[in-house]
Amino acid sequence: MQMQPKVGIESISVHVPRYFVDLKTLAAANDVDPGKYYHGLGVRRMAVVAPDEDPVTMAVEAARALIERNKLDGGRIGLLVVGTESGVDGAKPIAAYVHGLVGLSGECRTFDAKHACYSGTAALRMAADWCAVHGTQHRNKALVIATDIARYDEGSAGEPTQGAGAVAMLVGDEPHVLDLDLRNEAVFSREVMDFWRPNYRSSAMVDGKTSISSYLSALKNTYLTHRAASGFGWDDYEYLLFHVPFPKMAYKAFRVLCGLERNDNADDQFDLRSGPALWANRELGNIYSGSLYLSLAGLLEKGGRKVEGARIGLFSYGSGCCAEFFTGRLGTDSKNWADKIGIGAGLDRRTELTYEQYLAFRKNGNALACDGSYTGDPQGAAFGRLRKVFYCGIRDHRRMYFVNDNVAQVARNSGIETRSRRSSVAV
Ligand code: COA
Repeated sequence: MQMQPKVGIESISVHVPRYFVDLKTLAAANDVDPGKYYHGLGVRRMAVVAPDEDPVTMAVEAARALIERNKLDGGRIGLLVVGTESGVDGAKPIAAYVHGLVGLSGECRTFDAKHACYSGTAALRMAADWCAVHGTQHRNKALVIATDIARYDEGSAGEPTQGAGAVAMLVGDEPHVLDLDLRNEAVFSREVMDFWRPNYRSSAMVDGKTSISSYLSALKNTYLTHRAASGFGWDDYEYLLFHVPFPKMAYKAFRVLCGLERNDNADDQFDLRSGPALWANRELGNIYSGSLYLSLAGLLEKGGRKVEGARIGLFSYGSGCCAEFFTGRLGTDSKNWADKIGIGAGLDRRTELTYEQYLAFRKNGNALACDGSYTGDPQGAAFGRLRKVFYCGIRDHRRMYFVNDNVAQVARNSGIETRSRRSSVAV
């Protein structure tokens, strides 16, 4: 039998946006019992992007943190795939902006992958396959970034499940974080109208109940297919991680698997096998393509030595729909991820918004994204030492980014329209 090349996630880093709204604040504004959001959906706070943050800046922040914290050699990266459903342009991928703003080699394939919340998994699995083929070459590492802003209409049922964030992962042949099983994959696709965002809208449309039932039937389908093909069963998984549009959804998913496995101890088992992965999702909300990987990062960051070497099962779902169940084994030395993920540190730096400020951020963010207005005065200037990249609107139909001086040169060399912050803002 042919040996499977060792491939998986070598390192992982999360970007946490600087602002949040407590779900109690939103419940009061929407005249809803806060228990519905806190316990019924399982969310505590939702990350909110500033008007000068967008899916590009979040992806760049996550990628730069990954590279700096792990002292990575960017010259080894031969593939950059951004998984996202928050595209900022009909033609130009987010990956192209990220490539320039991070300063990657010209010998690097760059593109976006899109299938709703499955986008991150599409990018990861494609990158892993690419790494398996390019194993012996110098440029054999892939950078995968899942970046999204989850936005629904004000006052809608989906609003409390909003969120934002980005997860960057280095994929290669030294999988210190997650050694992926590439042989066994179970995928499922079926056209369904459960969640979508027409090109003329900045917030998503959703048939919530249909999306839940489609998610659960795709889970049953892929889990059973995977079980039959791989031989991995219920007792093999120390942890089960799911796509998390809201944390209660992971509980619903876990219960479905308990039903399939005739296990009647769902609550206790959930607390042991899935609960420990959900704390960060409760804080950031839905980050669409990155939400499964935010769970993985959360499990690693809090789990430390306890989770070393654990076999995990992962379920990814993207509305529309495409889903996949797959497995892998966590690394055996938590020093490889300790202090490098950045969720706790990111949460510590956050600022809480009032409901009125949240509405103002929504309005300004939409204006910057849609009407071609340009401001050379980014709102995030106060965070100069913390953030590296600022989005400041569209001028002459081109997206404009401010970058900190240390990355400005790289960006200028790559031909991206940017201005150094120092030219207008004292840091
Ligand atoms: N205290 C505690 N729980 C409460 C409560 C209260 N005061 N009030 C309601 N709840 C519970 C409900 O019983 C329900 O629990 P259950 O799911 O276990 O039955 C839960 O809170 C949600 O209430 P529900 O009335 O079903 O919410 P909703 O119809 O307003 O919307 C979604 C829920 C998920 C459909 C909606 O948030 C949505 O559309 N989200 C976006 C789409 C999405 O995330 N899809 C997931 C698959 S990708």
